[in-house]
Amino acid sequence: MKNMIVTCENIVNTVPEVIKWNQWDFEHLKSVHSAYENPKILVSNKETIVFIDNFKIPLIGIRLKSLVYSTQWSDKIQITFTQTILFLAKNTIELTQLGEKKTKVKVTYELTGNIFQSLLFPIYKILLQKWNSNVWIEDLPLKLRRQKALEYGFQDFKGLPSNIDERKDISSTYKCDLPVPRVKNIIETNHIYYINK
Ligand SMILES: [Fe+2]
Repeated sequence: MKNMIVTCENIVNTVPEVIKWNQWDFEHLKSVHSAYENPKILVSNKETIVFIDNFKIPLIGIRLKSLVYSTQWSDKIQITFTQTILFLAKNTIELTQLGEKKTKVKVTYELTGNIFQSLLFPIYKILLQKWNSNVWIEDLPLKLRRQKALEYGFQDFKGLPSNIDERKDISSTYKCDLPVPRVKNIIETNHIYYINK
């Protein structure tokens, strides 16, 4: 078997937990990311999600059905495995807090394949870098908006404090608890493999 590693890094002016929230917010995938078509959850619990979708390949434009398994490995590390007909991929998202509201997001893609699949690794490298760039650009407004909302004291399902004097910056103490709440009976029940656990 042959392996290839591609690393992409970005820095954003948010706390790490905002990045984690964005990574685990499932409902934005279809509406925000052009590469996702109609993702369906098969398994979802506190640290893990498994879903399938038809992913649009960057630059080429064709869609490939893929199975995605993702787990929150530690407080700052999320690991995802993706199986397509072309390859098996692992990507590791590692968050490093650089400042009070500054975080480095390092994504390491590891591909494995046989000798014939490995001939396509140079092309995959370009596609993965383009994928990372596209997803980063599409997610960035969500992250910055979430950070700004926390700085005004926004809480999920409560909103902003009605008293303006109570609108304090809570971003430094914000903790993204998993799973991120989703609207019920919209996503999960649409797939016959969904496990209600
Ligand atoms: Fe996203």
